[in-house]
Amino acid sequence: EDTQHNKICKEHEHLLQTLPKGNGWMVQHLYNYNGFWLNSYIIKNILLLNTFFKPQPSDIFLASFMKSGTTWLKALMFSTLNRHRYNSSDHHLLHHNPQSTFPYLDSECYPFTDFTNAPSPRLFATHYPRLLLPSCITSCKFVYVCRDPKDVLISKWHFACKIRSKDLKPVAFEEAFELFCDGVSDYGPYWDHVLSYWKASLESPDMILFLKYEEMKKQPVVEVRKLAAFMGKPFTVEEEEKGEVEKIVELCSFEKLSGLEVNKNGVEKLGKLAVVERGDFFRKGEVGDWKNYLSEEMKERIDRISDEKFKDSGLIV
Ligand code: A3P
Repeated sequence: EDTQHNKICKEHEHLLQTLPKGNGWMVQHLYNYNGFWLNSYIIKNILLLNTFFKPQPSDIFLASFMKSGTTWLKALMFSTLNRHRYNSSDHHLLHHNPQSTFPYLDSECYPFTDFTNAPSPRLFATHYPRLLLPSCITSCKFVYVCRDPKDVLISKWHFACKIRSKDLKPVAFEEAFELFCDGVSDYGPYWDHVLSYWKASLESPDMILFLKYEEMKKQPVVEVRKLAAFMGKPFTVEEEEKGEVEKIVELCSFEKLSGLEVNKNGVEKLGKLAVVERGDFFRKGEVGDWKNYLSEEMKERIDRISDEKFKDSGLIV
């Protein structure tokens, strides 16, 4: 194993010297690896994952482009699957940040934590585009959450400003906008990321549940029902009558989670690499905050790219 690890480290060093480089939002540089912009750790981790991570057929992955609703979905998936374990007055999520409920694969790094004996189905979150994941992983079930790119851009820029090292020059909003449109942001281009999962969901609807942040805000109960059925734990008539779906929706709502002490203070470790202030996972949790930031021209530019990239795909964001 160590020999394989050393080989990967060498390959990674070589890649960093040869891959196209762009400006990073959270770190100084991003590299274009097989068509996607990733930071150097995330590139190393995909090489490691390919070699060392062994999925089980019953695993369920949550995939998303950053800032599309990962924290929310983690809370919903965890509480839906574990609804028999907790009652609402003393729920795990009242004392733990949603990020901690299941691992973020991208920042695990070598040596991987041994998840072999985690209860089935094991849950994992990732931001990797589908095209970069090995087929042993993509043959598992996936939940994908997609969000309006304009809101993703605003959310991501705020997040980047918070976690970018103070030693680096801040990224101005206009610069972030240009980079985003050019596809240069962590895991970007946004459009290619979404499209890879969208197409796969059309091909295998039983294996990929494609959700939209905006739909979830509009009709959370309907979407959580879908989520439960997809994960193999549909709500029973009895549970429906007792309002169990509504209870989960309420517990995982932005208002509820962002108001909890555990989500306001302290930091959360994501895998071995990232440390984020818990409060930074929650900002506004609204649809359409982009209206406060984008000029008409900027809005049109993003919409034009979406129209072009998604035309003929049937996807509307
Ligand atoms: P905003 O910055 O627009 O407020 P991610 O979890 O993928 O990093 O996405 C973060 C975005 O989801 C942030 O958006 C955050 O406020 C929002 N969010 C976090 N928890 C949420 C919840 N329970 N319901 C709805 N949105 C939530």
